[in-house]
Amino acid sequence: MAKANLTIPADGRIGPVRRRLFGGFVEHLGRHIYTGIYEPGHPSADAEGFRTDVIDLVRELGVSAIRYPGGNFVSGYRWEDGVGPREERPRRLDLAWHSTETNEVGLHEFSTWLERVDSELMLAVNLGTRGVQEALDLLEYCRIAGGTELSDARRAHGRAAPFDIRMWCLGNEMDGPWQLGHRDADAYGELAVRTARAMRQVDPDLELVVCGSSARSMPTFGDWERTVLRHAYDEVDYISCHAYYEEHDGDAASFLASAVDMDAFIEEVAAIVDESRRAAGSDRTVGISFDEWNVWYMRRYMEQEKITDIAHWPEAPRLLEDRYSVLDAVVLGSLLISLVRHADRVTSASLAQLVNVIAPIMTEPGGPAWRQTTFFPFALTSRLARGEAVDVAVECPSISTERHGDVPAVTAVATRDEGAAAVFAVNRSLDEPVEVSLDVSSLGATRVLEAHVLADPDMYAANSPEQPERVAPRELETRLDGSVLTFTLPPVAWAAVSLEAE
Ligand code: AHR
Repeated sequence: MAKANLTIPADGRIGPVRRRLFGGFVEHLGRHIYTGIYEPGHPSADAEGFRTDVIDLVRELGVSAIRYPGGNFVSGYRWEDGVGPREERPRRLDLAWHSTETNEVGLHEFSTWLERVDSELMLAVNLGTRGVQEALDLLEYCRIAGGTELSDARRAHGRAAPFDIRMWCLGNEMDGPWQLGHRDADAYGELAVRTARAMRQVDPDLELVVCGSSARSMPTFGDWERTVLRHAYDEVDYISCHAYYEEHDGDAASFLASAVDMDAFIEEVAAIVDESRRAAGSDRTVGISFDEWNVWYMRRYMEQEKITDIAHWPEAPRLLEDRYSVLDAVVLGSLLISLVRHADRVTSASLAQLVNVIAPIMTEPGGPAWRQTTFFPFALTSRLARGEAVDVAVECPSISTERHGDVPAVTAVATRDEGAAAVFAVNRSLDEPVEVSLDVSSLGATRVLEAHVLADPDMYAANSPEQPERVAPRELETRLDGSVLTFTLPPVAWAAVSLEAE
């Protein structure tokens, strides 16, 4: 059997694992809101129409900050449409997804839902079809206690206290030609800095996220970040990264190595941030908000027939409802390892998305809600990764991949907190199990508390409404001999081990 010898380097401390690393993303898209989180008339719906079966699953998933309301949707969104009496709210065309938005759910309803799931709001402003004034209006509506037209409107709409929103995104994917109001880097950088300065005149303590590239493969990647940060370095707290991965043409080996691409993306953006910080003469480091990441079979979406009949833009159509396999979940687990391993630079991240739309949680209208395979590595990492991230060096055989060259078969990271430690590992091999050993003395670990593995003889096995529990993690057998932790990972496997520590 292949062996992986894992060690914790003497200088292995990476940085704090912030709760915001386990954020999510809810966009007005497909059935995310309507029949996803909100379905009055559903047997589990509460008085506000929120599905409590979904609320329970979102709480179990353990998502921290949730980005809202888009995504591509936000670039055509008028936030005013979603506040005030429901019967007066307009129905609008959603140009991003060729749907009809009823605006039954808006800022107030979504904030109420966030209280139920115990998450923080990360609010995106529309810099596609709108600009500085509308961002200021939204800020006044949300953050001012009262005594002005918009703050009094909020009060009249039933919310006396301001919304406690710290994180604001300055638009979405403005580098993408598909984005409503897409601009070049200079034009966006100028707009972002003007918007940021104006918003800080209202509230200097906001945490602002400027748009980075919508993918590492964008032709403008790199130049975009440099230009935008030349304009905005002093005014923003985060620059965003977005990345989606999928299996291309049956090439599972490359797909399993997707985290290699995510590692490189983060390190390249971090280097540009450092270069921009020096150029700005700043002593403050702009963080990375990896605010869209996931497995997404985008190619299937691109090939799908689009809604072109402009007379009938459907309400809440089934869009981007990817069904995830064990293989997808193992890749997602390895992407989480990459994020934790870069916790010094990635200070916020949002799994895209949360319910029905490329999501760990699925629902049927009037029917059940169920966990996809990808639910498990996210929920377990969010629960067990605490305190500070610790690097793990891996000595093991390599795997050849077409897209990423030779990559180590095993990737891993650890975390350490008061009284507890955790180790997360993935076996990327398609056919070989691997025996993993790690000296956990520097983590102060004394006892295994819990250990889980996600793997299946059929790597394409998935959950479904008919078989919602076909795939779930099972207990991983571990040994702790003195300070050496040993366990065996089957091929295509993700694992988490939690340890008691001194
Ligand atoms: O998450 C789906 C879409 O992917 C988002 O709307 C957009 O920001 C990205 O391109």
